[in-house]
Amino acid sequence: MTNTTVNSLGIHDIALATTTFSLDMKELADANGVDVNKYRTGIGQDMQSVPADDEDIVTLAAAAAQPIIDRHGVDDISTVILATETGVDQSKSAGLFVHSLLGLPPNARVVEVKQACYAGTAGLQFAAGLLSRNSDEKVLVITTDIARYDVGSSGEGTQGAAAVALLLVANDPAIALLDPVSGFYSNDIMDFWRPNYRSTARVDGKQSVAAYLEATIQAVDDYLDKGGLPLSSFAAFCYHQPFTKMAYKAHKNLLHSHGIEADAERMEHDLAASTIYNRAIGNSYTASLYVGLLSLLDHSHDLSGQHIALLSYGSGCVAEFFTITMQPGYREHLRAADTQRSLAARTPISHEQYLALRNKPADDGHDREFDVQTTSGFRLAAISDEQRIYSTTIEHVGAATG
Ligand code: CAA
Repeated sequence: MTNTTVNSLGIHDIALATTTFSLDMKELADANGVDVNKYRTGIGQDMQSVPADDEDIVTLAAAAAQPIIDRHGVDDISTVILATETGVDQSKSAGLFVHSLLGLPPNARVVEVKQACYAGTAGLQFAAGLLSRNSDEKVLVITTDIARYDVGSSGEGTQGAAAVALLLVANDPAIALLDPVSGFYSNDIMDFWRPNYRSTARVDGKQSVAAYLEATIQAVDDYLDKGGLPLSSFAAFCYHQPFTKMAYKAHKNLLHSHGIEADAERMEHDLAASTIYNRAIGNSYTASLYVGLLSLLDHSHDLSGQHIALLSYGSGCVAEFFTITMQPGYREHLRAADTQRSLAARTPISHEQYLALRNKPADDGHDREFDVQTTSGFRLAAISDEQRIYSTTIEHVGAATG
């Protein structure tokens, strides 16, 4: 076992997957009797990703991680940390289904972590802790979620789904160094939650927005108190995006609270590139911040050597403000064209088709076969004897469960 210094570790690879279907906000606006500009301009969303009948957080997670496995293989992956708030089992980690679908080594440990949309960042920091203990290992962190609110509710415009997988290594990561200073804030509030018996979230929309703004200020204050970089140091800011306008609200509020002018040019410079994918995908809870990060990297000029600020927020609530430093040559390791192709390849569906998908029977334990719809290579084939049966068409993977 070798030790390493904490500030040489970071993100070696990152990849995104989203759903087979998309819903244009015009479809939702017309059905809900809402002016489409409330969605497009008011909350900053053009489309939302909609899962196919045979897609869930496991198939999304496997699809996000597959390109990373194709590039780096499975050797040395010691740990899989899957972050979600769309859990498919009260006991078993969804990561174990992914472990099987990807053919990961039996000697890897697998765990699921939860704290609303924040859990992916917890996973990243836990990975850093593991890597600082043993620098020979690699840790796969997968953020994966389906954001779902009641049909016709005001939250419905902020739905979406995606997964982002990140491979963390201890030395010389190809994409970015994870900087050592982080600011935290936690507070026991009920702004958004999902009791065990519900498949959709309960939310106090206005309180959740106010709580996010307050948590951002507090987490940044903690970061600065711990000797973090001044706010003027960052080439860009990347926020958790339940809807893209939330990033603008939070950033403006943060800048104002530090006496910094938040004019349109400044906001565009700091944020715009990080919102492009999220405008088209919608909220993806744990994945949303990392969708934003990929959007920033895929749509920016070369940021090598520059610092990026990230704000992670999970309702309930926990926030963390932390930073990364881009590695020289990181752009050669991105997959911008593949990501953009997969977003463009989603099949647009009508509101009637969306409702038909929403009205499928809930997972109530009854045996059920799922319609063959996904284009991802991983599918939830059936529920049988209260077990989830997954299958894959990807050839090189190991023991798939169906
Ligand atoms: N043209 C342009 N803009 C319009 C418009 C129109 N025709 N009609 C309304 N708008 C604007 C409004 O002025 C408003 O803008 P401001 O926020 O700048 O004032 C914006 O559109 C939204 O309008 P409302 O405030 O009336 O919207 P709403 O109350 O119906 O719903 C919401 C907004 C509360 C965010 C709701 O979508 C919701 O509850 N979403 C789920 C919760 C959520 O995402 N919370 C975010 C923080 S919590 C978090 O981040 C964790 C997480 O992932 C859930």
